[in-house]
Amino acid sequence: MKVISVVGARPQLVKLAPIAAAMTRAGQEHLVVHTGQHYDAEMSDVFFSGLGIPAPDIHLGVGSGSHGAQTGTMLSALDPIFDKERPDWVLVYGDTNSTIAAALAAVKLHVPVAHLEAGLRSFNRRMPEEHNRVLTDHAADLLLAPTQVAMDHLAREGLAERSRLVGDVMVDVCLQVRDQVLAGNVAVTGLPEGVDPAAPYLVATLHRPDNTDDPARLTAILDALAALPVPVALLAHPRLVNRAAAHGFDLARGSLHVGRPLPYGELVAAVVGSAGVVTDSGGLQKEAFLLGKPCTTIRPETEWVETLEGGWNVLAPDPHLLPDWTAVATRPAPTVDIGRPYGDGHAADEVVRVLAETSGSQEA
Ligand code: UD1
Repeated sequence: MKVISVVGARPQLVKLAPIAAAMTRAGQEHLVVHTGQHYDAEMSDVFFSGLGIPAPDIHLGVGSGSHGAQTGTMLSALDPIFDKERPDWVLVYGDTNSTIAAALAAVKLHVPVAHLEAGLRSFNRRMPEEHNRVLTDHAADLLLAPTQVAMDHLAREGLAERSRLVGDVMVDVCLQVRDQVLAGNVAVTGLPEGVDPAAPYLVATLHRPDNTDDPARLTAILDALAALPVPVALLAHPRLVNRAAAHGFDLARGSLHVGRPLPYGELVAAVVGSAGVVTDSGGLQKEAFLLGKPCTTIRPETEWVETLEGGWNVLAPDPHLLPDWTAVATRPAPTVDIGRPYGDGHAADEVVRVLAETSGSQEA
């Protein structure tokens, strides 16, 4: 079986790590195409080196742009690659513009497409990711769902026959890296200045357009973080840094200490050492849950609804309007055990097994 994985944005590199390892274990032919959607070393290269992923076989170097231009450039660059390689599967990850571009390029060539992390829904059509997910699911031949809730969404959209529950590959990588952290094998050097790793602190990230693009809203969120009674390590995504610069203000203020995005090992170590997480990232909500830390999510909804159970994750779409904001953001970890809704850390092997089992069986 020959599989081409198409990745491009940081969270996809994290998911690629366990898949690449499982492909190697299973002796399958696996090519990696990097679209170049993320290109800063700290958004891309450090994930390949840090997670032991072989360098991409092909790098498209597409870079940033409007959603349409970025997606279109990727689509036309992928077309000749898929046509030449004619893989058994194009494997696409998550919900970014790289995901939808690769799914479209493949489906138009009748190359079978498998979608990893299928079936997630926010039901918020303001999010570019929501269009990407829904359209990719409906284009794909095989839907690899991480949870039963995702399977239920797919069934409601008439996609049950193409769907398989495989678990969440982020559990594979997160728990493996956590064990390295607990064994003392990861040095955390990248926490922002002013955050003492030995004293309580929160880890924060912010990058959703709905939170970053309106200066008044971004200021209100930053001020709410700055008013917390513990240091907040804001690991600033380039979009956030660029937007703040364009809006004409500094991110740092009060309790808010600004740092760079961290390599994956350091991020996991930073969360393990923290009192909790405040974020609008999908991946980090789940990592907080897997690492036993309370998470506060600055969004009106989450795709990862399982994390809300037992209060592990709390939605705070407008922190500045929340009367008990400090109590919410600094609450202790719940004691409720909600089991393992994301699987047992062996999802990548299951993905490769299902791909091999169903290879050649689609109607494309
Ligand atoms: C993308 C994904 C989002 C995912 C996020 C993870 C889409 C629509 N969005 O959002 O689902 O959660 O990645 O990080 O695909 N930039 C740099 N250097 C980089 C990359 C980006 O400076 O290496 C800056 C550029 O100004 C760029 C902006 O960040 O315009 C946004 O990048 P883009 O890839 O368009 O979207 P993200 O916000 O990163």
